[in-house]
Amino acid sequence: MKLWGGRFTKEENQLVHNFNASITFDQKFYHQDIEGSIAHVTMLAKQAIITDEEKDTIINALKQICHEIESGIIQITEEYEDIHSFVESMLIERTGDTGKKLHTGRSRNDQVALDMKLYTRDEVLATDQLLKELMTTLLDLMEEHIDTYMPGFTHLQKAQPVTLAHHIGAYFEMFKRDRSRLHDIYVRMNTCPLGAGALAGTTYPLDRDYTAELLGFDGPTLNSMDSVSDRDYLIEYLSALSTIMMHLSRFCEEIILWNSNEYRFIELDDAYSTGSSIMPQKKNPDIAELIRGKTGRVYGALISILTTMKGIPLAYNKDMQEDKELTFDAIDTVKGCLGLFNGMIKTMRINKDTMAASSKNGFTNATDAADYLVKHGVPFRDAHGIIGQLVLLCIDKGIALDDLPMDEYKKICPVFEADIYEAISLQTCVGLRQTIGAPGHESMQKVIDLNRQYINID
Ligand code: ARG
Repeated sequence: MKLWGGRFTKEENQLVHNFNASITFDQKFYHQDIEGSIAHVTMLAKQAIITDEEKDTIINALKQICHEIESGIIQITEEYEDIHSFVESMLIERTGDTGKKLHTGRSRNDQVALDMKLYTRDEVLATDQLLKELMTTLLDLMEEHIDTYMPGFTHLQKAQPVTLAHHIGAYFEMFKRDRSRLHDIYVRMNTCPLGAGALAGTTYPLDRDYTAELLGFDGPTLNSMDSVSDRDYLIEYLSALSTIMMHLSRFCEEIILWNSNEYRFIELDDAYSTGSSIMPQKKNPDIAELIRGKTGRVYGALISILTTMKGIPLAYNKDMQEDKELTFDAIDTVKGCLGLFNGMIKTMRINKDTMAASSKNGFTNATDAADYLVKHGVPFRDAHGIIGQLVLLCIDKGIALDDLPMDEYKKICPVFEADIYEAISLQTCVGLRQTIGAPGHESMQKVIDLNRQYINID
């Protein structure tokens, strides 16, 4: 059952076995382990290190083992040290001496490096796909809400009016960068460590280019010591996942605010809210809060692996076994959050009128009022001062700039004419902002069109 009993005179202490074993978590990549073994024996036969007959026997048995794991006919149990020992033991049980040839020219060090890379590579693609689905939802919302006015904030104080399309568009850009990071990681990580052996390659005439090609890599890794001890790609991936969570968390924070009794910009669907055990009136945004909360957990995985890796001498050391549980947890967490977040914003109700009313009170058009004066020849700094006085007056009266009578305007500055009201209306304030990237309808439409092309490319 053990792969390495020969040199030992004593049975392993049970606590040592438990402490050392990784089977409870590395069984997650049984499929990748078998896929890697199939490529390895295919190459061994091509290089005449084993016969074609032996290769066929091993591959058939490996496929059968895979099928039996998948359909629950055999269970992966904790008496094995790791998934590699489990698969090899199963194979030897079924094929005898032939199965004992599987591990020729291979070490668990290059094997686990390969398995983890294969697993991660698939997960990078799965994360990318979930991001793409979320971004499609965002784009649909942007299209629908290109004229939905809302206040834009700085310091969480009302600043200037924007639209919901524009606000959501900011997140669209963040997720676009997230996807681009994932693409970069995929390209950089896509080299095959199989054939690096324990650390120094092997004396068998392995064809590493061939196994790399069989497994869909761009080529073999170029230093066998680095191959078995590189976990950079996990750190990069966890960093990208942390950034995705940071973006989701910021968005959730806004959703929670917008959904609050005070804002009422949106209302989360009942299916995405939870109640209170004591307060019957409550409908809480727990999903958004949990996504915000789980961000810390994903950051934790990143910091943990960075810390684990920082003192490891070349080449493989058992510390690296610690790369798995936290990475798996972080990946599953992010994937879960992306799916739930997508469903949550797809189903939320948007209170357009509340948003528009909120952008009217709070002097979000004060900059535009100052710009009106500038267009009539008043230097900007003077205009700023005049509008400041008008704002103070309005605060005193409890009204908006839009509601201040003409004679009050004139009293403070004779330059004002009746067209001031038009100049500071929500429609004008947003509509005239037409530089690319701004919320004005036409420039927003251009950006939406560009983003539609982007999302349709792949
Ligand atoms: N379970 C180990 C890991 O996750 C596999 C590699 C074991 N290699 C060794 N030399 N003990 O890293």
